[in-house]
Amino acid sequence: MAQRNGGGKRGDGKMRGGGQFATRMGVVAVTVGSAVGLGNIWRFPFEAGAGGGGAFLLLNVIMVLVVGVPVVCAEFIIGRHTGASATSAFRKLVGERRGRIWGLVGASGLLASVLILGFYSVVAGWTLEYAVTAAGEGFGGKNAADLHERFGAMSADPLRAVGWTLAFLVINYAVLRRGVEKGIERMANVLMPLLFLILAAFCVNSLLLPGTGEGLRFLFEPDFSKITPRVVLSAMGQAFFSLSLGLGCLITYSSYFPKNVPLVRTASMTAGLDLLVAVMAGVVIFPAVFTFGQEVAAGPRLVFEVLPSIFGGMPGGRVWGVLFFLLLAMASLTSTVSMSEISIAWLTREKGMSRRKAVNVNMAVATVLGVMCALSFGCINGWRVCDLTVFELFDFVASNVLLPLGGMMISVFVGWVLSRGVVRSELIQGTVHRSGKQMGCVVSAIVFCLRWVAPVCIAIVFVAGLID
Ligand code: PHE
Repeated sequence: MAQRNGGGKRGDGKMRGGGQFATRMGVVAVTVGSAVGLGNIWRFPFEAGAGGGGAFLLLNVIMVLVVGVPVVCAEFIIGRHTGASATSAFRKLVGERRGRIWGLVGASGLLASVLILGFYSVVAGWTLEYAVTAAGEGFGGKNAADLHERFGAMSADPLRAVGWTLAFLVINYAVLRRGVEKGIERMANVLMPLLFLILAAFCVNSLLLPGTGEGLRFLFEPDFSKITPRVVLSAMGQAFFSLSLGLGCLITYSSYFPKNVPLVRTASMTAGLDLLVAVMAGVVIFPAVFTFGQEVAAGPRLVFEVLPSIFGGMPGGRVWGVLFFLLLAMASLTSTVSMSEISIAWLTREKGMSRRKAVNVNMAVATVLGVMCALSFGCINGWRVCDLTVFELFDFVASNVLLPLGGMMISVFVGWVLSRGVVRSELIQGTVHRSGKQMGCVVSAIVFCLRWVAPVCIAIVFVAGLID
């Protein structure tokens, strides 16, 4: 049950769930591990493709800098200061009664986490299917039209689509059930740098393709005529999604941070690495899109049609393909485990459920939502709200509505409600390389962003994007 603990609580009397991260490196690795996933490698390229390439990238970078980094800091401040997870942290800070309103952040995070889990599992299922295909028949000798047809046939076939989604969910379930997340994290800390290296090798490969010039121009040269309020909203949604921001995930993670972790630096490094991986994915995808005559605005299927055409033409493409898709599935697993933990923590801590039962409930909900998303490419493709399929609707509502709203509340809370002393001391602790004066400026800049820039920016983009 949640602790009743009103008033400003000092950092030293914390209740910690499962110990602390041993090293500063561990803190960065785990935070980056949650951030890096399908959001960078699958979602960023297709959102950028649909949003005009360079224009989308520019907007995304701006959103990460002016909204993303400050809100990551805000989640870190709340988490480390209370040592509690999202659902109880607010109550711990402002007391039971006022905590109720702020508990809305927890509720919207909870809803967002299950919606994301639904469509994320479908895409993670596709990566498993592609890994198996790469190992078996391979992708050699297939042109753009073949790959397009192949993806269409796989995603529209109810048995295959649902089967692979369930296969992924069962793996996720097994990890949660055995409580081996720590083991998964440790494995991920070894495998994620490998994914990074492979991505770097693919970048080199793509830079040698005939369509490189056109691809890079598309990704890096902003065409300002492509900027619409809806594209700005997507760029903001992408920043939130990719940083696992606005649903309280980072509050929970940072509740395990030791006091000597510098929060601003950790937030900046996470954002920087996360952006880097997304840009690298873009550098891999877009030259290939133009070389093989594929469509930039293909949507969720983009990466699944473009990557195989790269593997098909690479020496040792089969091995690269298997390795890449398996590592991507692994990166997805670290993300789905952290999403699942949001509802599991709520069920066990707030509803008094046993962990076993909570994991079962999470799996049941994820199965229903995942199956709906999987089928939305085939037999229930006609079920639409505002022309969006179930899959697209879940993504839109979670990424472009719930995460930014959660982020806005978190930013208002830290900017206006939490005492300035707490904010300052959390931001300053652990920094060794900066003078007091420099840190004073950094703290003022972050507080200014949290009070004014982030909330106003989110509100304007949100309203303009929705009515566009
Ligand atoms: N940030 C993850 C990714 O980029 C997705 C995610 C969103 C994970 C929300 C946890 C919570 O793939």
